[in-house]
Amino acid sequence: MPSSPLPHRVVAIDGPAASGKSTVARLLAQRLGYVYVNTGAMYRAVTWLVMRHGVDPSDPAAVDALLNATPIEFGVEESKSTLRIEGVDPTPYLDEPQVTANVSAIAALPKVREFLVARQREYVRGNPLVMEGRDIGSVVFPETPFKAYIDASEEVRAQRRAAQGIVDNLAARDKKDSSRSAAPLRIAPGAQVIDSTCLSVEEVVDEVVQRLGL
Ligand code: DC
Repeated sequence: MPSSPLPHRVVAIDGPAASGKSTVARLLAQRLGYVYVNTGAMYRAVTWLVMRHGVDPSDPAAVDALLNATPIEFGVEESKSTLRIEGVDPTPYLDEPQVTANVSAIAALPKVREFLVARQREYVRGNPLVMEGRDIGSVVFPETPFKAYIDASEEVRAQRRAAQGIVDNLAARDKKDSSRSAAPLRIAPGAQVIDSTCLSVEEVVDEVVQRLGL
């Protein structure tokens, strides 16, 4: 964990699945002129890799061996984090049902988290960031004073997913993400909790800006 002051501001946006945090984080980054980093996409990309190679997601040693043997490039394009795995941009595959169904199992593996958290921290060397995920304010950048936790009722979150046409067992995923031993989903100490159930995306962005004094 870095002990020196952060070289740039990091706005940490955490929350459960389909709480609207990705859209909020992307718009907030645009408004502030910061780089937007989607860490959920990183866990999804590793899951896609594991599926692509037919590796068992419940076999930590096999997943770790695959991760270590695979060239993965992390970058920034047009103020957004990017990723290439074995030379391929996996973005079109990240919402596939098979990836969504297995991502919580992959994200629970300590070696996968260790690998991705180290890469996530490297992003702050070059830019101020809006980074979204489950453990950004609690584990990745616990020292940042800019932490928001975006929540919404389970019913509204399910409606939002359905409207996107994405198959997602939210309750099961939230349970796994909150009950795992490695960096479970938690409200980080000092985080501003914003309930987005009855708010538009723009209203949530305004609320984050106001509450965090950005
Ligand atoms: O935000 P998302 O739904 O795309 O995230 C996909 C999964 O990745 C989520 O179920 C939990 C995991 N995740 C995580 O464990 N830590 C993060 N910082 C981001 C996502």
